[in-house]
Amino acid sequence: MEFCRVLVTGLIIALWVLSARGGDANVLPPCEFRAIYNFGDSNSDTGGISAAFEPIREPYGEGFFHKSAGRDSDGRLIVDFIAERLKLPYLCAYLNSLGTTYRRGANFATGGSTILKPNETIYEYGISPFFLGMQISQFDQFKARAADLYNQVKNSSEVNKLPRLEDYSKALYTFDIGQNDLSVGFRKMSFDQLRATLPSIIEPLASAVQHLYKQGGRAFWIHNTGPIGCLPVNLFYVSNPPAGYLDEHGCVKAQNDMAIEFNGKLKDRIIKLREELPEAAITYVDVYAAKYGIISSAKNLGFADALKVCCGYHVKFDHIWCGNKGSVNNTEIYGAPCKDPSVFISWDGVHYTQAANQWVADHTQNGSLTDPPIPISQACHRQ
Ligand SMILES: *[C@@H]1O[C@H](CO)[C@@H](O)[C@H](O)[C@H]1NC(C)=O
Ligand SMILES: *[C@@H]1O[C@H](CO)[C@@H](O)[C@H](O)[C@H]1NC(C)=O
Ligand SMILES: *[C@@H]1O[C@H](CO)[C@@H](O)[C@H](O)[C@H]1NC(C)=O
Ligand SMILES: *[C@@H]1O[C@H](CO)[C@@H](O)[C@H](O)[C@H]1NC(C)=O
Repeated sequence: MEFCRVLVTGLIIALWVLSARGGDANVLPPCEFRAIYNFGDSNSDTGGISAAFEPIREPYGEGFFHKSAGRDSDGRLIVDFIAERLKLPYLCAYLNSLGTTYRRGANFATGGSTILKPNETIYEYGISPFFLGMQISQFDQFKARAADLYNQVKNSSEVNKLPRLEDYSKALYTFDIGQNDLSVGFRKMSFDQLRATLPSIIEPLASAVQHLYKQGGRAFWIHNTGPIGCLPVNLFYVSNPPAGYLDEHGCVKAQNDMAIEFNGKLKDRIIKLREELPEAAITYVDVYAAKYGIISSAKNLGFADALKVCCGYHVKFDHIWCGNKGSVNNTEIYGAPCKDPSVFISWDGVHYTQAANQWVADHTQNGSLTDPPIPISQACHRQ
């Protein structure tokens, strides 16, 4: 069975029913979204970059899919938990040509994507050529070609793999992108320079929403960016940090401050978008708060040290990434996974474990960290 087609189980449906109750929003009917269209980076890539370039190899995916499933984690991503909660199948990557079906949406996210058009190739620092603007033009092409095919293909088994034209306005459009724009910025610019470019990073995201709205999209679920300074990778090369460089949880403070500033500007822009798009229901999702929440209370929640990495060999100056082989002191070392990924927050130093993704999903999708505060199942209602 393809990992973008796995059907949801009764348990998940039961959870969804429970989550749809309670809170002020319970007067609103559930939206019954027909599809999900997702745009983003590795936080929500379900096979795109893997299909376009080299596959992501095991031990990625082993904890849930029992083999690599094109995802940068041991198992499911937040977008997979969104699909489960909305009783929709896991999303197929648009770039994945085999065994795919798009009746219930498509995923345009690719690992390494930025909002801005990149100035470097994937072979340097892994920045994807499929930046947000490219993902949007892929969506346009997808929609046009699907409409063409829909009219041509009379064979019903083929038709069932295509989206229905009337479903675009009843789909949820989800975004999780911006983290790589910050990481490129940290590499290439001073903090002040990067801070000055934040509005120009956010504007194309707003334009993407406007564009999808013109294409019929009405419900948008937009993740802000996470505490990038808490990613273990950003601490691998830090020794003897000056006082104040790290916060109380060991995260790079200036990087997190930049993410917070990005998020503030994103939220302001979303508030403006709501005025510009009178029929849009746009939810701003504070993924930063959820991720920082799990990191700052790791111990109380039964997780290991948030800055420890489950998979890979990272000792002093030697770094052998998850699933790779390398040599240290002429000894071959495998970047192996830890025994129990479910107690780790970081899977590979850059990406979260399934356990952490699930926690973040559980603490955002019920509306507790969103603006407006409505669960994702009701995110079609403009507040
Ligand atoms: C790429 O370079 C152009 C021209 O220097 C600049 O305006 C743009 O912001 C750069 N893009 C990124 C992603 O750094
Ligand atoms: C429809 O497609 C299926 C599988 O591709 C094939 O077996 C079947 O003969 C087709 N039916 C028609 C009416 O073309
Ligand atoms: C490599 O050598 C250093 C210094 O002798 C030692 O501390 C380290 O444990 C060795 N690493 C491995 C993987 O053998
Ligand atoms: C959402 O779920 C989390 C985790 O179970 C819980 O702590 C929080 O109170 C819930 N919020 C709402 C609004 O239901």
